[in-house]
Amino acid sequence: MQKQYSSPKCQLEPVDLNDASQFNELRDQRIICGWESDLQTLRGWQDKADLKRLFWITILDNSSHAEDKYIRAGHISLDASSSLLDESDISSGDPELSINSVFIMPYYRSLGLGKRAVRLVENMAATEPFGDPNCRFLTLTALSKRYFYDDAPEWSGLWEKIGMERPSFSVQEWYEKLGYVS
Ligand SMILES: CC(C)(COP(=O)(O)OP(=O)(O)OC[C@H]1O[C@@H](n2cnc3c(N)ncnc32)[C@H](O)[C@@H]1OP(=O)(O)O)[C@@H](O)C(=O)NCCC(=O)NCCS
Repeated sequence: MQKQYSSPKCQLEPVDLNDASQFNELRDQRIICGWESDLQTLRGWQDKADLKRLFWITILDNSSHAEDKYIRAGHISLDASSSLLDESDISSGDPELSINSVFIMPYYRSLGLGKRAVRLVENMAATEPFGDPNCRFLTLTALSKRYFYDDAPEWSGLWEKIGMERPSFSVQEWYEKLGYVS
């Protein structure tokens, strides 16, 4: 099978978790992702749609002759509160926004989509209605690169223990390349 897309343009479309088919499609993507896929978590996201702002990462389906046919290649969220920073790190009035749940379906990986989606969310974070013009930074959590480089059983040895495949690259480094700092 050949990849259809060399460098697809993507856009972000809000996820509507009250729509059953979107709920199920998001759940399917979360199951492939490997964490935060249980119904309780997803129902919590559904209830907190004003704080957990999820977006489909969509690309145009070049294989279809129908106009405006989009594929949901992944998802990403711009959350209203991260609770990651010490109060001393935050000036009063700083909006707390964070990037979460970044996921690209395996077939569409390594095409630059994840990077583009993060850049789109960064732009969104500085504009209303989802963001705030006063936004100066975004926070996120990512798996430590020690789970990739450190051979100790509690670090990269963990993958075998939990029965998951070891990632092929460090997500922490992936974010660092995009300019994020620990
Ligand atoms: C992390 C993830 C979102 C990246 O999305 P993606 O669309 O594949 O990433 P991009 O194509 O934008 O990657 C860009 C960079 O990452 C690197 N990269 C991407 N996939 C890689 C791979 N399999 N091996 C090595 N490097 C890789 C490339 O070097 C590329 O950098 P470059 O353009 O300077 O060469 C995707 O792999 C994913 O969904 N992973 C599972 C979920 C996850 O870990 N999410 C992060 C939660 S914290």
